[in-house]
Amino acid sequence: MLSALARPASAALRRSFSTSAQNNAKVAVLGASGGIGQPLALLLKNSPLVSRLTLYDIAHTPGVAADLSHIETRATVKGYLGPEQLPDCLKGCDVVVIPAGVPRKPGMTRDDLFNTNATIVATLTAACAQHCPEAMICIIANPVNSTIPITAEVFKKHGVYNPNKIFGVTTLDIVRANAFVAELKGLDPARVSVPVIGGHAGKTIIPLVSQCTPKVDFPQDQLTTLIGRIQEAGTEVVKAKAGAGSATLSMAYAGARFVFSLVDAMNGKEGVVECSFVKSQETDCPYFSTPLLLGKKGIEKNLGIGKISPFEEKMIAEAIPELKASIKKGEEFVKSMK
Ligand SMILES: NC(=O)c1ccc[n+]([C@@H]2O[C@H](COP(=O)([O-])OP(=O)(O)OC[C@H]3O[C@@H](n4cnc5c(N)ncnc54)[C@H](O)[C@@H]3O)[C@@H](O)[C@H]2O)c1
Repeated sequence: MLSALARPASAALRRSFSTSAQNNAKVAVLGASGGIGQPLALLLKNSPLVSRLTLYDIAHTPGVAADLSHIETRATVKGYLGPEQLPDCLKGCDVVVIPAGVPRKPGMTRDDLFNTNATIVATLTAACAQHCPEAMICIIANPVNSTIPITAEVFKKHGVYNPNKIFGVTTLDIVRANAFVAELKGLDPARVSVPVIGGHAGKTIIPLVSQCTPKVDFPQDQLTTLIGRIQEAGTEVVKAKAGAGSATLSMAYAGARFVFSLVDAMNGKEGVVECSFVKSQETDCPYFSTPLLLGKKGIEKNLGIGKISPFEEKMIAEAIPELKASIKKGEEFVKSMK
């Protein structure tokens, strides 16, 4: 069942489906006709948390919206096509999710997408800054390690920057870590919770298996293989799709999980925690993903890295130079824009 996006609430990183009466979130998806956008819009349409779904793309949104609008759930659905319709798509939104952009093909890194996606993200987030400056902005478009600094700089340019409301969606790394650990240990994946910190590319993806609930132990060689698989899981999908794109269905699931957590917290639910790539003071990287306590206004508290193993400390040290370079590239891109 689609509503099985809900996970049981027991450990710190658990989330659950809201039963709040304030289920009136107005959510926009930008890039809604794409491989991620369509199944993500379906999951959002299926949720009682969402009352209005606005779908923007440069192609096919009338069809996607007409199709989804026939589903017998409460959210109204409307499609918006082309830049002149973008303002109306955004006005009044509480949450904007952005999977617009090109995906990887075999042999490409996420950074290879920078040239195309940086412009797309800068353009779309400039429209958000103008038309829904108070909304929570969730960026899926890669390279996330650069598209979040891009979004922050764009919001700064418009004088509406709030670091508590801009999120790089790294949830798929957590979802994968949970699935892979459960597979190895014969556990129910819905009951496994592995925080994944750092960034969202290769070795910047840092799974904290030492903080997994329930507690799991692996011999070092198996742990190294597991971590390598989590870090390269996106590439596993890119290779298997053989030129037809990157992860879309699992990403849609992960994006929906993140949006539902955010909306639950905005509705006043307490104890909602998700990892996300955000403005951070936890390391000397200006942006870093760690578990975040979410609240009515976005990030309520950064829960930090916590107690980690020497192996995990080493992974962080090795990730920081690459993360810093990706962040700088994003910041400089916006500074160089006219
Ligand atoms: N954060 C993650 O974990 C994660 C995981 C998988 C993929 N991604 C990224 O998500 C992005 C989308 O992937 P996909 O598989 O859905 O790609 P896709 O090509 O299937 O879809 C992208 C959509 O964006 C639209 N688009 C392009 N330019 C646009 C613009 N200026 N305004 C609005 N829409 C525009 C396209 O028309 C298309 O419908 C890629 O950058 C990919 O790398 C991120």
